[in-house]
Amino acid sequence: MVKELNIPSRILMGPGPSDVDPRVLKAMATPMIGHMDPKFMTVMDEVMQLLRYVFQTENELTVAMSGTGSAGMETVFVNLLDPGDQVIVGVNGLFGERMVDVAERCGAEVIQIHANWGDVFTQEQIETALKNNPDVKFVALVHAETSTGALQPLEGLADIVHAHDALLILDAVTSLGGSPIKIDEMKVDACYSGTQKCLSAPPGLAPVTFSKRTLDVMENKKNKVQSWYLDLSMIRDYWGSERAYHHTAPISMNYALHESLRIIKEEGLENAFERHERLGKALHAGLEEMGLELHVDEKYRLPQLTAVRVPEGVNEAEVRQELLNNYSIEVGAGLGALKGKIWRIGLMGCSCKETNVVTLLGALEQILKDKGAKIRLGVAIEAATKVMFHKKVNE
Ligand SMILES: Cc1ncc(COP(=O)(O)O)c(C=O)c1O
Repeated sequence: MVKELNIPSRILMGPGPSDVDPRVLKAMATPMIGHMDPKFMTVMDEVMQLLRYVFQTENELTVAMSGTGSAGMETVFVNLLDPGDQVIVGVNGLFGERMVDVAERCGAEVIQIHANWGDVFTQEQIETALKNNPDVKFVALVHAETSTGALQPLEGLADIVHAHDALLILDAVTSLGGSPIKIDEMKVDACYSGTQKCLSAPPGLAPVTFSKRTLDVMENKKNKVQSWYLDLSMIRDYWGSERAYHHTAPISMNYALHESLRIIKEEGLENAFERHERLGKALHAGLEEMGLELHVDEKYRLPQLTAVRVPEGVNEAEVRQELLNNYSIEVGAGLGALKGKIWRIGLMGCSCKETNVVTLLGALEQILKDKGAKIRLGVAIEAATKVMFHKKVNE
């Protein structure tokens, strides 16, 4: 007999999924209804409305695609790119690499620009690539590179891209809801995200948003969208006023997203950004006070995902296992070029709370001490606490 599932309760402090509020889990137990039920149409309308709030956009085409963040990535590329189109892709981590792969599968001519894993792109670098490739139609960048913990500055970027008659595509899988991303103000043309990071819903939906400029591109696309499932010309008819059946929407996932977005709205986006910023800085302070090195320069450090270098002589996998087995804390391993060299500690959405910072620092200190790592003992939590409650103390 296969037994009933017996899943332990974890503290999710990896690169996602993040902890899910009990209200979201409860929403998933809401009765099943049909994907064409008028009540579900209301759910969809409200999901669109709330997504516009978190994306900070008026874009009409703002929907939750069925699938994880990678489906969001594919949605953007398959709907905008024609074979032979030139696209500049910024590669400074694993997800830039994935964008290259997806764009190439669309038959695009991909021009890669590179930065070290952990660095970001300068405006000059992007402008030079545009000048050298005058036929480029799109520039695609990762806003929050989850594989390295770096946050790409966006100020002024879209103006440069637009001045060269190209459009800006942005991966906001890890930034949406955690770091300021103002689609309209920053003039981002197409953006995709995922539900399991700072939105704190389970994985399974990919919010996407498209500017008016991209609608023209879609209308004038020479070739049929290569993916039937992700073809927005049909998906729009389901999410829009036509309500035409396309595929059976994942009903419970939409309930979950609806509730998680309501929670963000209740907190207020600005407050959510402040919480991520403050607790991210607190974690950074604690780790550094302990004597650990952070992988990303302070200027570009993501608050919601911190890459910490593994101290010499320490087996990184053993530390992760002990965190999981003894403390039920999940943190992430390094990927690609950073495999074995870093841990990735997430403070995303509901996981981004004071008690998690303290618990992680205490547990990590104890494990590293037992392993004989050269760290300073008894100082990390105090350093983090000072940053965490600094604002409140001064209020
Ligand atoms: C920046 C970024 N882009 C894309 C993805 C792909 O999302 P998913 O794993 O949900 O398909 C991830 C996942 O971690 C990510 O962090």
